[in-house]
Amino acid sequence: MSKRPELGVCYYPEHWPEEMWITDAENMRKNGISWVRIAEFAWSRIEPNSGVFKWNWLDKIVDILGNNGLKIVMCTPTATPPKWLVDQMPDMVAIDENGRTRKFGSRRHYSFSHIGYQKESQRITKAIAERYGQNNFVKAWQTDNEFGCHETTYSWCLSTLREFRIWLKKKYQNIDDLNKSWGNVFWSMEYRSFEEIELPNLTVTEANPSHNFDFRKFSSDQVKNFNYQQVKILNDYSPGRPISHNFMGHFTEFDHREICKDLNIAAWDSYPLGFLQNMQTIARGDKKLLEDCYNIGDPDFQSYHHDLYRGMGRLWIMEQQPGPVNWARYNPIPIAGAVRMWTWEAFAHDAEVVSYFRWRQAPFAQEQMHAGLMYRNNTPAIGSHEAMQVSNEIQMLNLPETQKSEIALLHDYEACWITELDGQTEDFHYTRLMIDFYKSVRVNGGSLDIVGKNADFAGYKLIIVPSFVHLETDTFKKMVSSGAKILAGPRTGLKDRNFQIPENLSLEGLGYKVKRVDALPYELPVEVEWKGQKGKLHVWREQGDSSGISEGNSEDGFPVITSGNQGSYLCGWPDEALLSSIMKEQMAMAGLKPITLPEYLRVRQRGNLLFFTNYGKKNVVIPDSFEGEILLGSKNMKQADVTILKINK
Ligand code: GAL
Repeated sequence: MSKRPELGVCYYPEHWPEEMWITDAENMRKNGISWVRIAEFAWSRIEPNSGVFKWNWLDKIVDILGNNGLKIVMCTPTATPPKWLVDQMPDMVAIDENGRTRKFGSRRHYSFSHIGYQKESQRITKAIAERYGQNNFVKAWQTDNEFGCHETTYSWCLSTLREFRIWLKKKYQNIDDLNKSWGNVFWSMEYRSFEEIELPNLTVTEANPSHNFDFRKFSSDQVKNFNYQQVKILNDYSPGRPISHNFMGHFTEFDHREICKDLNIAAWDSYPLGFLQNMQTIARGDKKLLEDCYNIGDPDFQSYHHDLYRGMGRLWIMEQQPGPVNWARYNPIPIAGAVRMWTWEAFAHDAEVVSYFRWRQAPFAQEQMHAGLMYRNNTPAIGSHEAMQVSNEIQMLNLPETQKSEIALLHDYEACWITELDGQTEDFHYTRLMIDFYKSVRVNGGSLDIVGKNADFAGYKLIIVPSFVHLETDTFKKMVSSGAKILAGPRTGLKDRNFQIPENLSLEGLGYKVKRVDALPYELPVEVEWKGQKGKLHVWREQGDSSGISEGNSEDGFPVITSGNQGSYLCGWPDEALLSSIMKEQMAMAGLKPITLPEYLRVRQRGNLLFFTNYGKKNVVIPDSFEGEILLGSKNMKQADVTILKINK
């Protein structure tokens, strides 16, 4: 079944005089927009005072949009509790890690664990769901807005403490088991009852990592619980309409896979230029990438997140940058064509909808310097022309279903938390490592799925595990029995699920037994040579005994990669060029056909279509090994071009 993707926009009618609403709706239609997301920050206009509801304006705009043929994504407004509510229960706001109260005056000023606020969130959700749940123009829902944004996943308040103790008691039942599992005998940290346990902040030196790990799992459950409370109400009052939440890029503080079990649409908010700038904290100051791509974005960052979230539900891009944003370190204007290219790239990855943030540039308050599809004076901005172009192009093409890929990349939130809590080198960053491995497949022309540990591994030819600290035997066995080739990366199998070191440091069957680890600064790598190619293992490398076939040599005499009867193991984190060569060989050994792409050219397969995107400044030519009929664009590609090729397979 083929589907035609659609465009959407985020709209804030409450920011504009009513006289503009009808022309706004008409102009959206003219711009090829089908979906409009509204109301996620409108609580103070819906309920200006406790129990006093003002629905007229929202009824009116819902009618205007709907009567103009636009479909509405209605949001619950719980990311912005109004002042009267905060005044009613001042302890609903979060407390930061240093014990400081977070104030009213922006957004997301609540603690997920505050029972009173949970009730309020359910009350306002019910009110909106009752009013619009059966409205013909409301076709989908969004809960809240960007859970966890602005460092709000964790709160160090009393409500959190109370709920954390209850959570721990439920998990461990008796305090001795908790003491054992956390290893509290170390430094005399043993507790006599659950009531003695504090939150793991403000300790003299680092808190017990197991304490922290449980706090992370608990906090993730709190987000899931908060979301589920709303989902349940929406499903009751508006059955059959899909429910989404808009997740973020480069954000791992809660387990998105768990939350998505309660949602239909796994949406995320894509800001390619903002992310490129802000990712520098983990991108080790990649000057070349920053200079080459400052006005177009990292060629793999968007794709990585499309693949990550499409593995959890129906993929939507709920917000996409339509021009410069205001919040990154630097905020350049996207190069002409970039907005169109990002949109097509999302569709290549199976997105059903790409919705731009926002319709019109705001004239006041926090985000005045953030572009919209329209300028503040209501004339079309560049993003709007590009959106229009995509909307015309979509009409000419039928997009096939995405098929299961032949390569899987294993991703796990808990594994990420363990590496963050117990890093040993400041430069070990889980998402960075994941994107490095992801990139190494893409530069070899591959498309891949990003999957969690409970995935169905059948049918994959290559399973890549960049790092899975507490990969358990069961999951590993499932991967092995799928018959796929397995490539595991640094730190895999280093800990168990209780955050303790298992007796054997490494997984059996990968040809290596780790004895010691070298946790290095990025600037001081180990020089290696692999099949004649010189390279580096940086940040993390392992020394041990090889029991299988080992390849490559380091200056200190340890291998680069080993292979046993169940797969291969990378004994460190290779630099980009080395990893790409190793991956090419792994892909070929798995029976795939890697094709090296020109720098910054990427391809993604969707059914029998190949979508090429050129992120580089140089013009490139699609290699001849890709044969097929061109449906859009050309084999010669300028920067920000998109080419769609129909292949026979
Ligand atoms: C997102 C957020 C929007 C808006 C946007 C600006 O993170 O969901 O409400 O603030 O950023 O780029």
